[in-house]
Amino acid sequence: MSTQIAEDTREATLSLAPLCRSAELERGWGEALWHETTQLALFRTEEDAFYATSHHCPTSGAKVMARGILGDTVVDGASVATVACPLHKEVYRLDTGECLNADSLPLPVQRLMEIEGQLWMEQIK
Ligand code: FES
Repeated sequence: MSTQIAEDTREATLSLAPLCRSAELERGWGEALWHETTQLALFRTEEDAFYATSHHCPTSGAKVMARGILGDTVVDGASVATVACPLHKEVYRLDTGECLNADSLPLPVQRLMEIEGQLWMEQIK
């Protein structure tokens, strides 16, 4: 019983994990990165926006998303950055992970911050 109370009152802590220098990422491309036990895909758009997603395509589990094709589209009147899976071309929003052209699971996305040229990923522990 006391264990259950302790688990219920435990607070989540937000922390930032360093990933890489933003200048290490080439504009218009993605790079795969191991972070702890997770494979991430990092992207730098032509407009110097940075995104992090899972490297695994939600459709097949293939580790290919860092080789996806960057683009953009308009959703509800706003331009959003996208990545198309290089295998079957399903298109995902980079900000939310929503799949825009198929009834697919979302692509897991991570929140990033760029501070003085360093990319940090938010993580909750
Ligand atoms: S493997 Fe990614 S859309 Fe099929």
